[in-house]
Amino acid sequence: MAQILNPTPENLDRLAAALAAGEIVAIPTETVYGLAGNALNPKAIRQIYEAKERPARNPLIVHIGDKQQLGAIAMDIPDEADRLIETWWPGPLTLILRKMPHVPTSVTAGLDSVAVRMPSHPVFRDLARRCSFPLAAPSANPFGYVSPTRASHVAQHMANRIDWILDGGPCERGLESTILSLVDPGKPILLRTGSISHSELEATLGKKIEAPNLNEAEHGEGLSSPGLMKRHYSPGTPVRLFEYSTPQANGNAVVVFLSKNSCTAENHFSLSESGNLSEVAQNLYDLLQHLDQRGFDIIFLELPPPSGLGNAIRDRMTRAASN
Ligand code: TXA
Ligand code: MG
Repeated sequence: MAQILNPTPENLDRLAAALAAGEIVAIPTETVYGLAGNALNPKAIRQIYEAKERPARNPLIVHIGDKQQLGAIAMDIPDEADRLIETWWPGPLTLILRKMPHVPTSVTAGLDSVAVRMPSHPVFRDLARRCSFPLAAPSANPFGYVSPTRASHVAQHMANRIDWILDGGPCERGLESTILSLVDPGKPILLRTGSISHSELEATLGKKIEAPNLNEAEHGEGLSSPGLMKRHYSPGTPVRLFEYSTPQANGNAVVVFLSKNSCTAENHFSLSESGNLSEVAQNLYDLLQHLDQRGFDIIFLELPPPSGLGNAIRDRMTRAASN
């Protein structure tokens, strides 16, 4: 049974020691909770895949606490990466770069590229400072389910599969990081949208970035990012999307609006008081997990407008509704 620990200095020391010994620990980041292990220890990596029941062909993100660590994980780091790191790290941006040979192939699922990010969550940083190695971590949910944004979500779905959960409170961003491939620095590709938007990254780089194609990712085979499968982040309850008109939600259905103003019935919920999209992103997975426990037959979800953060929220909602 997993133990939930507060981020006291003693607990952080204890968990850093557990990680150094090859154990795995659920940790908070500003995006979602991750299931972390020493990225350079293949035994720890194997435990991560087992605990999540994650297919071995789906590579992990390597998390660092300090920019200096990047040189030990990736090589041939292009100027484009330096510029993005300068602007966005620490923060919810993952870069795909060429991997250093000693990064285990199990971390990268055999690819010769590696995903790296430097989270900004203060509890993550306190833990990372105590570790002399980088942390490989996928989101701390069973494969295919909604990502956890609270320690209690991890406990609910992973308690029998892991020993330790570090509680850093609710995640501030609530959506997984934006992923950008710089494997060909002349042709950057956005592999996953997130709270850092496509246009913000284009502005930093001063050039066009190719956008992701959700439909192409139907089965996750032969993709540049194998984890971009269409069905992902799904609750057990069927989800339907709506945009302009309120659906007829009869029977045992629930309707989730962006803003509280739209709520007029008992089976109406909202993702934010005012429809603020940062709040919507922050609350989306929490509300989905909550509603999933309540035995509704169907969840109707209101889509935000397709720009900026709205695109990332639409992407996750669309995945939640795919089956
Ligand atoms: O916000 C986040 O990114 C969270 C927190 C814990 O950091 N992590 C997360 O990890 O969302 P995960 O494993 O659920 O998603 C990682 C994604 C997968 O879709 C995977 O395919 C992609 O990153 N990825 C990892 N390495 C890659 C690589 N070398 N090339 C292309 N895609 C890669
Ligand atoms: Mg995930």
